[in-house]
Amino acid sequence: MLNKLKKYLVKPEIYTPGTNSMWDDYHISENMLDAHLEPENEAASRNHKFIDKSVKWITNIAPPAKYANLLDLGCGPGLYTKRFHKAGYTVTGIDFSKRSIEYAEVEAVLCNVDITYIYRSYLNIDYKEQFDIITLIYCDYAALSKSDRKILLEKIYQALKPGGMFIFDVFTHKMKLPASQTWYYSPDSGFFCDNPHLCLNSVYQYPDEHVELRQTIVVTEDDVKTYNTWECFYNIEQLVDEVLPIGFSSYKIYSDVAGKAYSDDSETLCGVFVK
Ligand SMILES: C[S@@+](CC[C@H](N)C(=O)[O-])C[C@H]1O[C@@H](n2cnc3c(N)ncnc32)[C@H](O)[C@@H]1O
Repeated sequence: MLNKLKKYLVKPEIYTPGTNSMWDDYHISENMLDAHLEPENEAASRNHKFIDKSVKWITNIAPPAKYANLLDLGCGPGLYTKRFHKAGYTVTGIDFSKRSIEYAEVEAVLCNVDITYIYRSYLNIDYKEQFDIITLIYCDYAALSKSDRKILLEKIYQALKPGGMFIFDVFTHKMKLPASQTWYYSPDSGFFCDNPHLCLNSVYQYPDEHVELRQTIVVTEDDVKTYNTWECFYNIEQLVDEVLPIGFSSYKIYSDVAGKAYSDDSETLCGVFVK
């Protein structure tokens, strides 16, 4: 057994994917969906009061009368998309969690609203000058590898109309965790698995790249799965240096996606980049 586990117990090369993905896992995605829908729970989406505030702010800086077509990347179960639709935008939501997209589609039918939902990785989009606004909310951008971030930025730039806005957030260096290794045993069903399992949690730092790995290794009677969540941390200069050269003509930086002014103790940065 120890021999089988050994290869999982070393610090991975930066951006090594886990053996499995959390978002589209049948069991984990059920727990994620519950977290999204719980108004105060901030594990998968921000609290719903903040989401109301965020949509109101976006509606103010980019009113639907002028910026009609909105694409929400990583839309989850549609907490933002349904509010964007209500505010007057024509909305498309993309996510690669089947469970979240199915929930959003059923909601749209039940509420009789016309929102387009697509079950796909946003790394595979191929739009040309179709959207006035593209959103990517709750710090998903920085969970991608450096090469995937570039691919996504280029696709977003191509998908925006001239004058269109890309609105997204990332974590600042304040959110870095200390390196650690912890474990727990779950005798029944738990967040990661439906059967008895052991969870080995590690936080690894990659300081040269300002990157952190939060890894969970789930060991069951006959299987080992690894879930790797990467996080790149930014200050304003790092964010602008990475995004502006894609071709954007101007930008503004805020403290969060509800338009709070930037300050040195901000835990997130929100970029609004204009094509
Ligand atoms: C932290 S949640 C945020 C959801 C939503 N933006 C919100 O704030 O309520 C991240 C979402 O992005 C989705 N996601 C992550 N990587 C993705 C990818 N490559 N393509 C499409 N969706 C992705 C996940 O399935 C999940 O629904």
